[in-house]
Amino acid sequence: MVSSPAVGSISAPDDPLLHDLYGSTCRELPTASDRLRLVASFERPIDLVELEQLCDAVGWSRRPLRRVRRALDNSLLVVGLWRHDPRVPRLVGFARCTGDGVLDATIWDLAIHPLYQRSGLGRGLMQAIVERLQTLGVERATLFADPDVIDFYQRQGWTLEPDGVRCAFWYSR
Ligand SMILES: CC(C)(COP(=O)(O)OP(=O)(O)OC[C@H]1O[C@@H](n2cnc3c(N)ncnc32)[C@H](O)[C@@H]1OP(=O)(O)O)[C@@H](O)C(=O)NCCC(=O)NCCS
Repeated sequence: MVSSPAVGSISAPDDPLLHDLYGSTCRELPTASDRLRLVASFERPIDLVELEQLCDAVGWSRRPLRRVRRALDNSLLVVGLWRHDPRVPRLVGFARCTGDGVLDATIWDLAIHPLYQRSGLGRGLMQAIVERLQTLGVERATLFADPDVIDFYQRQGWTLEPDGVRCAFWYSR
């Protein structure tokens, strides 16, 4: 399990309004503006259409929503990054983990909306996920990085497995 370095840093907010909207385990990510508040929530339900719009924005192919719903329901944890608005929070980031909840977890589908990229939010969301996994007692986390984001993970201390030595895939079609 890696410990992502501090990013200035994510924090547990003491604002009761944020707890009402995003749950008691939410984390606030630092931003450059007092008017922009971004909150990582493991408890706020994800609207599937909003998630599809986020995935569209980062260029991922669409998946049937009912299968996505089941995938989220079967995940160990699901995290949304919300642009805080007391009336209509907007989903600007997302990730989920599968796993046994004790020994191993695998992180999937990390996405930050392009309008919010390169501001430390991907790193902050990863830190929130790693801290949550540590709280759950999970001992090891893995992920599969697209080739163009390997550096992003390496900068945070993730170890690359040697090419083709341990990792194997099976695809149904
Ligand atoms: C990959 C992604 C999550 C990064 O999010 P982000 O909020 O832009 O990243 P951050 O701003 O937190 O970047 C943290 C650091 O990684 C660097 N970085 C960000 N994206 C990078 C990339 N694609 N390649 C290399 N370095 C990258 C940043 O420059 C920053 O460097 P610093 O530590 O010197 O400041 C985001 O670009 C994204 O959603 N991409 C599309 C979906 C995707 O590819 N997801 C990953 C699937 S494996």
